[in-house]
Amino acid sequence: MMSVFRSSRLLRAGVAAAIGMLAALTTAQGEELGPVPQIETEAARVELGKRLFFDRRLSGDAAISCASCHIPERGFSDGLPLSAAYPGSLGFRNTPTLINSAHRAAWFHDGRLGTNLNDVTREMITEDYLMNMDMRLMQERLKQDPVYVEMFAAAGYGEPSNGGVRKAIPEYLKTLISRNSLFDQGAMSDAAQSGFAIFTGVAGCSNCHSGARFTDDEIHNTGVPDNPEIWRDPMRHATFVAYAMFMGVENYMNIRRDPGAHVRGHAADGSDIGTFLTPTLRELTQTGPYMHNGVFATLEEVVDFYNAGGGDDPNKDPRLVPLELSKQQRTDLIAFLQELSGDPLVGPEFVWEEPIPTEYEIIDDWRDTPN
Ligand code: HEC
Ligand code: HEC
Repeated sequence: MMSVFRSSRLLRAGVAAAIGMLAALTTAQGEELGPVPQIETEAARVELGKRLFFDRRLSGDAAISCASCHIPERGFSDGLPLSAAYPGSLGFRNTPTLINSAHRAAWFHDGRLGTNLNDVTREMITEDYLMNMDMRLMQERLKQDPVYVEMFAAAGYGEPSNGGVRKAIPEYLKTLISRNSLFDQGAMSDAAQSGFAIFTGVAGCSNCHSGARFTDDEIHNTGVPDNPEIWRDPMRHATFVAYAMFMGVENYMNIRRDPGAHVRGHAADGSDIGTFLTPTLRELTQTGPYMHNGVFATLEEVVDFYNAGGGDDPNKDPRLVPLELSKQQRTDLIAFLQELSGDPLVGPEFVWEEPIPTEYEIIDDWRDTPN
């Protein structure tokens, strides 16, 4: 809690008050600056969700698990500019961190899912270019595994079911919450404190990166340049075309840019083309490359991008203007961003470390055999 007081004292000391930024630090939903709130969970459900998250049998050909792309040691992202995909295809978006994603109001870089994590989980499992799994096949695989039979019962979900999976994985995701950053402990370095003042002051970052997770959960156009790799690589392009066709994007064969949240807003004048959800700024030291398409490898590149007033786009948010920050100010801003990262979420609390045995007796008529 200390940090909250210390941060607000820093603010009252003049920086933000002068610029009228205090209000901007609270999100539209009223979320305030401070440590990210932990979420209460049920242990048996979390354990089940954790095993499922690390189990490759949740993908069609049993080659990849959720953790193949959301890697704990990389802040539950993957370190790649553009994600991998189901074997035989490649992705066209940067894999986002899952840390704090349970607090989001909408998911995916374009915010196309705004319901809940159960739906996000279903999407990840069934989408052809992600896990490519048929839910009926998944249920059979789970019902064959005596460990799951036990774990589903212990979690209070009855027999292994697809609905149970869509509840247990989100329960596990709720445990992935940031903790113990220097910012949260009120122990920021002098450079980071000065960076914080720049962030909330002259640089205007907190116009969009507000609240405990440093996101307003809204969409904005910052003019991030497109990543040409998506159209240069036929496997990525094919995935992009499949996505754009499914989302009803006009001219999906010919466009060479990511329409972003236009797929959910469909603004008639196209003003939402190239808008993306503001990401959290927590755990950045673990989650590069940055932006929806991973075009920036380092925080230096990100800060240089904003210092130049963002990218070049007719729909760009007018608040992004050249900042003319000095070298020292840019270094301080980066120090602040780094000190928003806390303990890595690794170890048995977050990672299923035991082997997942697959040598058990197969039940032939599994459909009619109650577990
Ligand atoms: C092949 C790589 C891959 C696999 C496997 C994968 N994901 Fe993802 N995940 C992604 C990518 C890429 C995105 C962003 C998609 C987009 O913006 O279009 C994403 C987005 C998400 C999000 C939304 C995060 C946010 O802040 O918007 C959640 C939650 C998520 N994945 C959970 C899971 C779960 C649970 C599984 C396993 C059932 C899983 N993922 C499997 C690559 C993967
Ligand atoms: C107008 C709203 C807005 C302002 C102002 C803004 N950002 Fe952003 N920021 C965004 C959006 C939207 C994205 C995601 C863009 C994308 O994925 O293409 C983003 C992405 C980022 C990322 C990448 C995070 C990741 O995990 O990929 C960083 C770091 C960042 N911003 C820092 C800053 C800093 C520092 C400032 C101030 C100099 C700032 N932002 C100002 C909206 C904003």
